[in-house]
Amino acid sequence: MAAMTRVPFAATHKCYSNSPAFPFCPPGKAKKIRRFSVVAVSGSSKSTVLVTGAGGRTGQIVYKKLKERSDQYTARGLVRTVESKEKIGGEDDVYIGDIRNSESILSAIQGIDALIILTSAVPKMKPGFDPSTGGRPEFYFEDGAFPEQVDWIGQKNQIDAAKAAGVKQIVLVGSMGGTNLNHPLNSIGNGKILVWKRKAEQYLADSGIPYTIIRAGGLQDKDGGVRELLVGRDDELLETETRTIARADVAETCIQALSFEEAKFKAFDLASKPEGTGTPTKDFEALFSQINARF
Ligand SMILES: NC(=O)c1ccc[n+]([C@@H]2O[C@H](COP(=O)([O-])OP(=O)(O)OC[C@H]3O[C@@H](n4cnc5c(N)ncnc54)[C@H](OP(=O)(O)O)[C@@H]3O)[C@@H](O)[C@H]2O)c1
Repeated sequence: MAAMTRVPFAATHKCYSNSPAFPFCPPGKAKKIRRFSVVAVSGSSKSTVLVTGAGGRTGQIVYKKLKERSDQYTARGLVRTVESKEKIGGEDDVYIGDIRNSESILSAIQGIDALIILTSAVPKMKPGFDPSTGGRPEFYFEDGAFPEQVDWIGQKNQIDAAKAAGVKQIVLVGSMGGTNLNHPLNSIGNGKILVWKRKAEQYLADSGIPYTIIRAGGLQDKDGGVRELLVGRDDELLETETRTIARADVAETCIQALSFEEAKFKAFDLASKPEGTGTPTKDFEALFSQINARF
């Protein structure tokens, strides 16, 4: 684990007045600067980052990106099965555990600096669906794998373990739609998935750990880095034409959130303009600076 410390603001930094990270900000210093660095000491400049749900579609991308940035990060992944571990390369930095069982995730979390949570209950399609009939497929959750168990208890277990291990930042990917109890996603498999996701988000926001909650729009398997990203709050983006986002862009946003003070203690909706309109987002510090909601 990289030994990290914050450079005293009096030496090199000014204050970020609204951040709980700076409870000691003296009067008059506020607003002069809005970020600070978590810097390394004791010879190591890398931070160890665990992505859970690393076998999932967005989690895989995060894990790969962390590995590609090995000068900055020591990557770890958490998956549920040996098959998932093999799918993402089978390296020793991939741990196997089930987030519903706290004991099984402790070794993966021990010694990390930051945690990116990309686990989620996944509904299954009921057998017998015939697309040619024009009807809609029906979905269900397996016993013990309802959103309550995965998106609430499972995320809570991760947050608790991270807090006990002294983890310095948690990035949690949730979903847009959570302000509407009657959102259609809540009725899938009678799982109330957005309700349980929201409960975990609230638990994280109340945990005292620096956090970033990313509520993604409809996920798409498209190239990242080629669209202008849009941040919003309270599901306002759902009322617009720009309600989707590439998984690759969500993954990049998760990792960028580790680098900027502007991303901490914030929650936001995330979508993008269609490719070819707007300017592809490169400056994540500016993107995170647009957000002022803590939840
Ligand atoms: N689909 C959308 O349009 C959409 C929109 C907005 C937000 N989101 C949210 O964005 C996030 C990423 O979505 P995604 O589609 O990339 O995810 P995904 O492919 O569905 O991956 C979810 C991962 O969670 C893992 N998982 C489930 N239960 C687990 C448990 N008990 N212990 C450990 N791991 C467990 C799964 O492992 P296994 O592979 O072993 O099952 C899977 O790898 C999710 O939170 C999702 O709800 C999705």
